[in-house]
Amino acid sequence: MSNNESRMVPLLCGTKIDVPAASDAMSIDKQVILDAYNSSGAILIEESTLTREKFPDFTERFFEVFMEYVGGANNDRQSALKNSKTVLTVTGGNTSKTSVPLHGEMFYMKNRPSTLFFCCIQPAAEDGQTTLCDGVALWKALPQEFRSYFETNAISYRRKYDKDTWSKVYKTTNIEDVVQICEQIGNELMINDDGSIETVYRCHAYNDHHAGRAFVNSILVWAAREFIEGIDDSNLRLIDGSKIPMDMLYQINDIAEELTLNVPWKPGSVAIVDNQRFMHGRRRYEDTNRDIIMRLSDEAMPKTA
Ligand SMILES: [Fe+2]
Repeated sequence: MSNNESRMVPLLCGTKIDVPAASDAMSIDKQVILDAYNSSGAILIEESTLTREKFPDFTERFFEVFMEYVGGANNDRQSALKNSKTVLTVTGGNTSKTSVPLHGEMFYMKNRPSTLFFCCIQPAAEDGQTTLCDGVALWKALPQEFRSYFETNAISYRRKYDKDTWSKVYKTTNIEDVVQICEQIGNELMINDDGSIETVYRCHAYNDHHAGRAFVNSILVWAAREFIEGIDDSNLRLIDGSKIPMDMLYQINDIAEELTLNVPWKPGSVAIVDNQRFMHGRRRYEDTNRDIIMRLSDEAMPKTA
């Protein structure tokens, strides 16, 4: 194998690209990355030396424009590089270090990102891995009765925010801006007399991807937030208002766990994830030095360089 030759290593899901003597992910041929990504839905370049400052350059090999985190459910997400609005911390502010169940990023709105870039600046000393699960494999692994249930029943994501919270979520104090943003992201908006708002987004729990039907949604993370953490500002229901049975949620979680990869982060590693096909999450951790950053694109990765 020459110094420039890349080796594809299939993972439990996605592909690891090994490049001997690579100085960083910038040196890997773009078409090699695109081919591995488009065939498997996620790539990891573990042995790399990307830094916080060089991460944007890597992402800009693929896209020119990146999404700001407007309308996102994590109010504590902060800039991870100077004042960039598109290079973001994965864990921000006082966000707890608990595990985060598998989810598609921003699946509670219409214009969710298509492509996620993650870069590890510093992994947790123990645990704290990012998790990945191929939604196409998960859909196939679900019992037929579950697939029928989600084909028959659409779901709705409902959020309730007081003014303080919505001004953080939508990054404005002007309700007219919120009206516009909700229109753009496909959320129905109700404005209450006390200045609080409620939003609703209806969709299916699956996504029809060119690789197949994928179980990608925010069901597990929203259920954990409501039923385990006891936070009542958001809930996920079928569109008729009924709850998804708890034993079904636990079974889905168990089936997904069998298909879930713990990303073996090293400082400088980078991953690209197809958010329309894969779900991601996080294992719990204690180490406050854990530092993972991300960038989101609303475009799908190109097929050719
Ligand atoms: Fe996420």
